[in-house]
Amino acid sequence: MNSPGISRRLLLAGTSAALLPVRSSLAAGIASTPEQTEGPFYPVQFPDDLDNDLVQVRGQAAQAMGTILHLQGRVLDIDGKPMRGVQVEIWQCDSHGIYDHPRQPGHTGRDQAFQGYGRMLAAADGGYSFRTLKPVAYPGRTPHIHLKVARYGGATLTSQFYIAGDPQNARDFVYREAMRDPRQRDRIEMNLQPASGLEPGALATTMDIVVG
Ligand SMILES: [Fe+2]
Repeated sequence: MNSPGISRRLLLAGTSAALLPVRSSLAAGIASTPEQTEGPFYPVQFPDDLDNDLVQVRGQAAQAMGTILHLQGRVLDIDGKPMRGVQVEIWQCDSHGIYDHPRQPGHTGRDQAFQGYGRMLAAADGGYSFRTLKPVAYPGRTPHIHLKVARYGGATLTSQFYIAGDPQNARDFVYREAMRDPRQRDRIEMNLQPASGLEPGALATTMDIVVG
């Protein structure tokens, strides 16, 4: 963010009032998506259906229970440039708070129609999208969606998205840790909007993932 190039430019610009707006927009930079714990429920075995539609499992007539959420955005580097071809993964519990994971108590009672995990490659403009569920709470955690972005060379960013305004956020230790830097709010809080135009009763949100 505070690159030497910017400092040099400011030095050359002196205190010219005409250039101050440029200074503020450059100096502001963009906040990165904070690294957050992977948690205990990253899949040990990936589902047979590995696409970006978690609501519909290939070969099943039933659709997952819960409120459908269209999650989309772009993967960007810290300069705001799209990161194409990086892998984006998400995973979350079903509408009853149960993960598809052997460590999950009551695992066998999970909603078999929910894929639980999905992944895709970001497009040339960094774009990604998932059809998933509005996350629900489970004991000890506020509602959240886990995500991981894998870059070339194997480096990854692991994080979590939350629902903006959910009263349980303030009591959640992972959320509170991420919010120690309040600039990260827009990177981890999803503003859910009605998206009945996409499908009845659905919600949508746009979350850019900024890899710092
Ligand atoms: Fe979780």
